[in-house]
Amino acid sequence: MKKCIWLMLLLAGLVLMPVLGFANGGAGLPMTNGNAVIDYISNVNPYQDWQLWPGKGELYEGQHPHGAFLTTYLNEAAYTAVQNKAGSLPHGAIVVKENYTPEKKLAAITVMYKKHGYNAEAGNYFWIKYAPDGTIEKEGKVEGCINCHASVKANDWLFTGPIQ
Ligand code: HEC
Repeated sequence: MKKCIWLMLLLAGLVLMPVLGFANGGAGLPMTNGNAVIDYISNVNPYQDWQLWPGKGELYEGQHPHGAFLTTYLNEAAYTAVQNKAGSLPHGAIVVKENYTPEKKLAAITVMYKKHGYNAEAGNYFWIKYAPDGTIEKEGKVEGCINCHASVKANDWLFTGPIQ
């Protein structure tokens, strides 16, 4: 009898795990909330372990407004799509860009997180800008980010390189 209860608990756990995962954004992805995304890319799946944008090294030269030097990381979903020139990033793709001053001091981190159904008019991206200490400067459907990135709408709103 005791064994049976343990077995049932185990089965219940196995059934509930993916359900809870989906409630939380699907397959363990963070919700469209700045703190949840920062926690995800800092602790759950640290972006420093991800691949760099193909063909870009660390601290490559950037343009206004982001920073004099940039390092851009792609999670697995984003990297695979960029590498295969998939035309657009899939649901769950995350691009994290570190923005450095001319003295190569980290000034801000900017993120684009693709979430289907989040904002269809603007590529379904959740945008975040935060300081190295974790303070969020902007998050959500940020007009400033969207208006400028709109000029590369045909490249799924991405500037760094062609994805098709
Ligand atoms: C005035 C135009 C402009 C604005 C405003 C802007 N960006 Fe960008 N963004 C760029 C350019 C240009 C690049 C390419 C990197 C470079 O060379 O600077 C870029 C690159 C990026 C990237 C790397 C992926 C890509 O598109 O290549 C991310 C992530 C990003 N921006 C996030 C943001 C966020 C978040 C905001 C708002 C807080 C924002 N951007 C506002 C112009 C802009």
